[in-house]
Amino acid sequence: MTNLVPGTKLVIEEKVMINIGVLVSGRGTNLQAIIEAIEEGKIEGEIKVVISDNPDAYALKRAKQHNIETQYINFKKFKKREDYDKEIIKSLKEKKIDLVVLAGYMRILSPYFIRTYKNKIINIHPALLPSFSGLHAQGQAVKYGVKVSGCTVHFVDEGVDSGPIVLQRALEVKDDDTEESLAERILKEEHQIYPQAIQLFSQGRLMIKGRKVFIK
Ligand code: GRF
Repeated sequence: MTNLVPGTKLVIEEKVMINIGVLVSGRGTNLQAIIEAIEEGKIEGEIKVVISDNPDAYALKRAKQHNIETQYINFKKFKKREDYDKEIIKSLKEKKIDLVVLAGYMRILSPYFIRTYKNKIINIHPALLPSFSGLHAQGQAVKYGVKVSGCTVHFVDEGVDSGPIVLQRALEVKDDDTEESLAERILKEEHQIYPQAIQLFSQGRLMIKGRKVFIK
């Protein structure tokens, strides 16, 4: 019931919900953090599909537990990386995806994929980029002897972990840290900043100018 004087206009603030597609290959703890942020109303968006190149990815189970559609697409069925990516894009288009979230997706996207979703693909990396790009970033950091590491959410461009940076979170590397112990602490930070970055995107607050991302 509303208490409006007759003739008064009722203006309901309308939230624009974005459609999110998530690509995964493994355990899916970042996916879980994103699902929970959405369920808590912290992201103005909906995960329309979770796609994996790995049929056994635990991330697929997590999605199913939350009634999110999942798809396994077998890359062995495709001769070229681009053909595989085209199959994924077909699914993403069908779902009218506005943002592609890479959450532990272990394949490098083809330039075709990146062009198709230009400035609409984000990734999280477990180091302070541009340091320690590529695999085993936490191990690289421990081995190098840095005192500070962390995680980075960035837009995806045609390089490896090289796109414009959205958010970063730093933490101290302890003298007795191993790759595993550091990875565990970084992961907790990932679970904070990835949903935050997605929220900023969903609110249209990210503006890319060259290498820089401005938060409006
Ligand atoms: C995370 O460490 C992320 O930074 C990296 O891959 C890992 C994925 O973990 N890109 P999870 O599958 O989200 O648990």
